[in-house]
Amino acid sequence: MNKTKKADQYNDPSHNYLHYWEGRDYENAAEVLAIQKFLKGKHFKHAIDIGGGYGRLSVLLSEYADKVTLAEPSQQQLDIAKDFLKDYPQIDRQLMQADRLKFKDKSVDLIMMIRVMHHLPDPSAEFAEVARALTDDGYYLLEIANYTHAQNRLKHAARLKKMPTQPVDIRSPEHQKEEEIAFVNHNPKTVIKQLAHAGLKVEKTLSVSNLRSPALKKIVPQSLMLKIEKAMQQPLAKSYFGPSTFLLVRKAR
Ligand SMILES: C[S@@+](CC[C@H](N)C(=O)[O-])C[C@H]1O[C@@H](n2cnc3c(N)ncnc32)[C@H](O)[C@@H]1O
Repeated sequence: MNKTKKADQYNDPSHNYLHYWEGRDYENAAEVLAIQKFLKGKHFKHAIDIGGGYGRLSVLLSEYADKVTLAEPSQQQLDIAKDFLKDYPQIDRQLMQADRLKFKDKSVDLIMMIRVMHHLPDPSAEFAEVARALTDDGYYLLEIANYTHAQNRLKHAARLKKMPTQPVDIRSPEHQKEEEIAFVNHNPKTVIKQLAHAGLKVEKTLSVSNLRSPALKKIVPQSLMLKIEKAMQQPLAKSYFGPSTFLLVRKAR
């Protein structure tokens, strides 16, 4: 990926990311559960939500930190955030992208990056920036769009195909031609190596959105889906079962 490229894809006026979340209450709640599990009992001075969009999850971060910065490269997302976060004056909104963080070295004790990795086929510059800005005892909470989830593993096994280690472009062929925003799913094992290269080490893993399926959502009550989700995020983590992998990362010592 061209590292100097401006990540302004979400400025398209025909695309309001708020609407993406309509009908995705289960996925939203599953992510909230994972973040709560990772952050339980912790408190931070300054948390950053990198690529935080309109602030969907910045609100949750404000329960765990004195100060929260929504660091987002799309002005349109920040404009939506202005209204969405109107009751949260402690959440600062700043235009910035992950490979050029405007924070001093070792100055931030919690960095979160959810649903951004699918726009980063090669996250090495972004991981280096996170490692630079993070305090020595800080935490990096990272979500990966997981290509190696159980369903894909079955599909590959049925075709006698190996799981790819490199990111997989999941855009339709016509979108690939239009050179639109990158949209990839990752192999978590590769991402863990990329993190290690930046001096970052995974401390905990959760498997998230394990029941993501339009059919299930229609027949199983959401409260039951979330009970199962909560119980299974940890046990399913080792096998990277679900389509989303959450990592709690620290500096390697
Ligand atoms: C799918 S949205 C997720 C928003 C938010 N994290 C959430 O989960 O609700 C992806 C966000 O990543 C941002 N983004 C894309 N490329 C980025 C980059 N290189 N650095 C930081 N943010 C980026 C986009 O502007 C967009 O707001």
